Amino acid sequence: MKIEDLKKAAAEAAIAYIEPKLNPDSIVGVGTGSTTNYFIDALGAIRHKFDAAVSSSEGSTARLENLGVRVINLNAAPRVSVYVDGADEVEPGKALIKGGGGALTREKIIAAACEEFVCVVDNTKFVDQLGSFPLPVEVLPMARSFVARSLVELGGDPTYRDSLITDNGNVILDTQGLNIDDPDSLEKAINNIAGVVTNGIFAINRPNTLVMASADGVFIS
Ligand code: A5P
Repeated sequence: MKIEDLKKAAAEAAIAYIEPKLNPDSIVGVGTGSTTNYFIDALGAIRHKFDAAVSSSEGSTARLENLGVRVINLNAAPRVSVYVDGADEVEPGKALIKGGGGALTREKIIAAACEEFVCVVDNTKFVDQLGSFPLPVEVLPMARSFVARSLVELGGDPTYRDSLITDNGNVILDTQGLNIDDPDSLEKAINNIAGVVTNGIFAINRPNTLVMASADGVFIS
């Protein structure tokens, strides 16, 4: 099976999973990335079953609005019933690395604010331990060099993601070589570096539900 077929299968299974939970007042949180794009396309077809979406990126907002889905600011959302997003890596305890698409800060805010976080992946994202995928760290531009040196002290090897400015006006350091055997602790440690806006470890607010597609079918846990 092609990887695009697996992404689409996972996204469509996520729609089937959330649809019975939706009502006319529901606000749906929407992530960013190629897997989430399949979810958005399927969400457009059931737009009459919920009130509105909150979005984690300008790109997802445009895709949602093109399909007629109303997108509101998170500040205007009394509650976000469910948030659906992809991941770059997921480990058996459902801690994630995210941010390959650069949208990690808004993604992490919605993941923290939602009532249920549903992660949609194909099985190529499943790993025993996080860290093969370089960890994205969003940084205020003036702090880039200082944060890079601090990440080296933590054992990492950061690379400036050239030519990317995030939706929040910041830059990204993609960091290889970190030992992520304790995702919660490393997430907190990196958050504590002055100038860091967000890091791509999603452990403190990890998904409640994982929807993973493989050649053998879609597995929900
Ligand atoms: C966006 O910043 C990311 O967190 C994505 O959710 C993640 O990179 C997964 O993207 P794909 O579905 O395109 O692999």
